[in-house]
Amino acid sequence: MDKLIVKGGSKLFGEVSVSGAKNAVLPIMTATLIVPGTYKIKNVPFLRDTQTMIKLLEIIGAKVESSNNVLTIDTTKCNNPHAPYELVKTMRASFYVLGPLLARFHHSKVSLPGGCAWGPRPVDFHIKALRQMKVEVTLDKGDIIADGCPFGAKIEFKKKSVGATGNVLMAASKAKGKTVIINASMEPEIVSLGYFLIKLGAKIEGLGTERITIDPIKNENNNFEFDVIPDRIEAGTFMIAVAATGGEVKLNNVESAHLDSIVQHLGELKISTKINDDEILISSSGNYKSIDMETLEYPGFPTDLQAQWMALMIKAKGSSVITENIYHDRFTHISELLRMGADIKLKNNVAHITGVNELFAAPVMCTDIRASAGLVIAALCANGETEISRIYHIDRGYENIENKFSDIGAMIKRV
Ligand code: UD1
Repeated sequence: MDKLIVKGGSKLFGEVSVSGAKNAVLPIMTATLIVPGTYKIKNVPFLRDTQTMIKLLEIIGAKVESSNNVLTIDTTKCNNPHAPYELVKTMRASFYVLGPLLARFHHSKVSLPGGCAWGPRPVDFHIKALRQMKVEVTLDKGDIIADGCPFGAKIEFKKKSVGATGNVLMAASKAKGKTVIINASMEPEIVSLGYFLIKLGAKIEGLGTERITIDPIKNENNNFEFDVIPDRIEAGTFMIAVAATGGEVKLNNVESAHLDSIVQHLGELKISTKINDDEILISSSGNYKSIDMETLEYPGFPTDLQAQWMALMIKAKGSSVITENIYHDRFTHISELLRMGADIKLKNNVAHITGVNELFAAPVMCTDIRASAGLVIAALCANGETEISRIYHIDRGYENIENKFSDIGAMIKRV
């Protein structure tokens, strides 16, 4: 199994081109199932998760061609509305096929995703919402069986859910009647999915707000191109890495509006970020003080950058707390950071961190995509050579991570 070997101590200088957003492209890939047609998706990151989604679309009957970050997906002959456990268990985002399959076939069988490395991740909001849309949903041998044409409905989520908002948007795009989503997710990835559905022919208002209305597709458009938005989590990971190591790096292909909360938090550390159209320049001395941070739904600080932020805070001056409000158990990286000399105490969903002067290399293990990115950042700041194992987690969500880091001067290699 591949490992990353990271020798700490280098400041980072140069340029990084940010890839397309994993969490935007995955639902868009499933949305191509809604209307039989041929779609060209551009700026697609080459990741394990996009490869898994290609496999899933092929099982459903789509023809997918992939070349140079462009996917051509032909969904005209799809005939198998089933998502098997073997794929869903490796990638929870497979659950995103539920809404599109229902929209097109009025039937779908999708394996119920299990928990994940950091704890349970339920799908009850998806199921409740579909039932409100008059779809019959049952559980049979670990599969969710959904039957019936979705009807437009007023869906109010008790808590914001990216995935449930996405699934309802997609089911609603071919429902009988208008759907209103209240307390919808406002994440850019949901807005981008909404734009894809609008291109298919749906009439959608309120994207990027808590209230979205969807009038289903009447005149289908089934042959078009679509660009994936830049990955704000990848961009944020590099911004935090440069803040931690020190140096000056320009990120290309960013959507700076999506990075407001990160820019603001780095600003509080007096780390400079200069924005120029789709570029952002980060400069850091590598010395900064501790500040508190809490994860929140967009536009708040993303939970997908919490581990990376923790890697930044473990060597900050002073002490700080990180409150994880989205996934209360998402702290598997702490035990690995402790092995490198961090001083962190966890109480419920709050991590108390006291900055240390030095971090030390140690063998550490990845536990999920973002926790792994946190370990890379800590390793870049540690004395000595850190060996990071189980990096298939990183490969699920970061394209060419070791090349992008070595291009800006990090001593990192895959073995
Ligand atoms: C998506 C992202 C993931 C990110 C997360 C939160 C993708 C592919 N994944 O995951 O990277 O960390 O948003 O920003 O885009 N919940 C329920 N019941 C449900 C659904 C969610 O209780 O049916 C809870 C979750 O346990 C969690 C919160 O709602 O506490 C938010 O989860 P959600 O936004 O649904 O996350 P995902 O869409 O799975």
